[in-house]
Amino acid sequence: MVRASEMAAWLLRRLGPEDAHEVAMRTLQSGLAGWARPDDPALACDVMGMRCPNPVGLAAGFDKDGRAIRGLARLGFGFIEAGTVTLHPQKGNPSPRLFRLPAERAIINRMGFNGRGAKAFEANMHRLQRHGGSIVPLGINIGLNKEGAHPLQDYPTLINALGPFARYMVINISCPNQQGVRAQQGADTIGAVLAAVRQQCPVHPPLAIKLSPDLSSQDYPPLVEAAARSGASALVLTNTTTTRPGVGSPLASEVGGLSGRPLAQRAREVLRTVAACNEGRLVLISTGGIESGRDVFERLCMGADLVQIYSSFIYDGPSVISRIKRELLEAMRSHGLESIRQLRSERAEGRLRAHAC
Ligand SMILES: Cc1cc2nc3c(=O)[nH]c(=O)nc-3n(C[C@H](O)[C@H](O)[C@H](O)COP(=O)(O)O)c2cc1C
Repeated sequence: MVRASEMAAWLLRRLGPEDAHEVAMRTLQSGLAGWARPDDPALACDVMGMRCPNPVGLAAGFDKDGRAIRGLARLGFGFIEAGTVTLHPQKGNPSPRLFRLPAERAIINRMGFNGRGAKAFEANMHRLQRHGGSIVPLGINIGLNKEGAHPLQDYPTLINALGPFARYMVINISCPNQQGVRAQQGADTIGAVLAAVRQQCPVHPPLAIKLSPDLSSQDYPPLVEAAARSGASALVLTNTTTTRPGVGSPLASEVGGLSGRPLAQRAREVLRTVAACNEGRLVLISTGGIESGRDVFERLCMGADLVQIYSSFIYDGPSVISRIKRELLEAMRSHGLESIRQLRSERAEGRLRAHAC
């Protein structure tokens, strides 16, 4: 029998990608989308002072304006990252700007920080609170406007405005679709931005920095040092790539960031590089090409504390979340691990790598 969620995913695949996204958002906002079963307590994770019922979150970019947080959480994500939110509304790049590459289970996007801006986001957060708040921890991802941005003022302003609604916030300096954003990925810039936040934001939620997969391996350790020394709590690894590893589709020549299956290998390499120099100081959130519970298990073994998905959610629909969680539990149990907590403590003691990864 075809399940309703599979049918919905099939229908959405037949619409243009942006139309499909809008239909999905409206369905989620209306409360018509389903409820997932409660999670097995073995999957619970305590990270950055938040309790996630499972480690599988929704990556940034799906709900840029924070419109459908409750509907998304009900699908069974362990946490949601909304955004990227910019201070002022902006249209983003002209359409077409979103391309599906189904044979490769990949997406290319050059959306370019389209969104309704911080005021509209804040209004959505007030509405969310009136309806009882988010049922899983909410992260808010922020970025700079294309025109007239002042990083040392705009990031603190966004953090002061939206911090009260977030359990963590992400400074997105790795979007490939707006000129100048990736130029912020230097140790000095990260240090200066975080110093401005310390000065201008008396209280703020834990902060993460989201990095690109397109830096060379020796570029990551100084960024890890700068983030850890300047008071960041986490790194999100990684954003989309401008490279096209093994992509044969004619759409490969479209300008934009590639996500999904072809990104997985690079996302794993970056996680391995960063975990090796991180020494447990920063929480690591891994994203890029995650499609199965086995993928999640592998990232957790490699040093991730949480993971996020986007492209596999687009291709498989909401049922991917429960499948990934079921497979993750199976992978854990087949390695004699009773809980994520046990996995993380065995990893910290160096007992995991030999038999699991
Ligand atoms: C259509 C689309 C829009 C995205 N928008 C954002 C965004 O606004 N901010 C951001 O930090 N990442 C954004 N991302 C990147 C995702 O958050 C994630 O890092 C990336 O897609 C890798 O995960 P995946 O392979 O599971 O898709 C976007 C990705 C896609 C496919």
